[in-house]
Amino acid sequence: MYKSPANTLFVGKNVVFVPECHSTNTLATQLSQNPSASEGTVVITSNQTAGRGQRGNTWVVEPNRNLTLSLILKPGFLMLSEQFMLNVTVSLAVRDVLAEVLHEAIHIKWPNDILVHEMKICGILIENQLRGKTIETAVVGIGLNVNQVDSLPVKATSLAKLTNQQYNLNDLFSTLLGRIETRYLQLKQQKRQILKAEYLAALYRINEDHQFEANNQVFNGRITGVDASGRLVVATGNEVRHFEVKEVRYL
Ligand code: BTN
Repeated sequence: MYKSPANTLFVGKNVVFVPECHSTNTLATQLSQNPSASEGTVVITSNQTAGRGQRGNTWVVEPNRNLTLSLILKPGFLMLSEQFMLNVTVSLAVRDVLAEVLHEAIHIKWPNDILVHEMKICGILIENQLRGKTIETAVVGIGLNVNQVDSLPVKATSLAKLTNQQYNLNDLFSTLLGRIETRYLQLKQQKRQILKAEYLAALYRINEDHQFEANNQVFNGRITGVDASGRLVVATGNEVRHFEVKEVRYL
C-alpha cells in the first residue's frame, strides 16, 4: 500500500508494510537488531493495536485513517549527550510538512508534541539503542492524525478535522519521509545551531508567562529555552529551573 518516496536518498527506500501490528516501534526495534536492517527502513501499519506513547502512555487511533510508522536511523555521529537533537530534527520535519499542508503556525510542545491551535496533531516516540556513549540505532515512532475525525482525545485534532478534507495517506507519507531526510541531513552536516534556533522559534509557550506544576507545587514561570541535555528551561521569579520530561507539567 505504501510506496517508497521517489525523492529520498535513503529514508523510506525500504518500506515494511504490515496491515496490523501491536506497535510499529516494537516491530522496528526488533528489525533493527538484524544488522541487515538498513538506515532509513520504515515500518508502517494501517492498524496499530497496542501503540505506545511517551511517559508510558498508550497511543490509540482508528485503523486506516492515520499515519502510524517507525523509522530506523543509525545516528552513530551523535553522542548520547546530544540525543535531544533527534527530537529537534524530527519535530521540525513534521512541523515542516504540516506547515506546507495547512499554511498555519505549527507549534512544538517540548519535547516533541506537534500542536495546531493548541491541539495535538502528532506524537513522536524516539527510542534509542546505545553503544558506549553513542547512539547506535534510533527508532523514531510517529503517529500523525490525518483522516480521523471521531473519537479523538479531548485536546487532539487531525488534518481532516481542521480542514474538512480527506488526505491521501501515501502522498503524505512520501512528503513526510522527504522532510525527515532533509532535516536529518542538516543534523548530520553539523547544522545544529540552525536546527535548534528553528526549534526554539516554534516552541509552544516560549517567552510567555504561564503556570506549571512540579513536585506537586504550582508556580509561575516563563520558558526561556531548552538546555544542551534537552531539559526545559523555565525562569521563575527568582531562579532558573531545568526540568526532565517527567518532572514538569504545563497547566
Ligand atoms: C506520544 O505523544 O506520547 C508519542 C506517541 C507516539 C505514537 C507512535 S505511533 C507509531 C509508533 N509506534 C508506537 O507504538 N508509538 C509510535
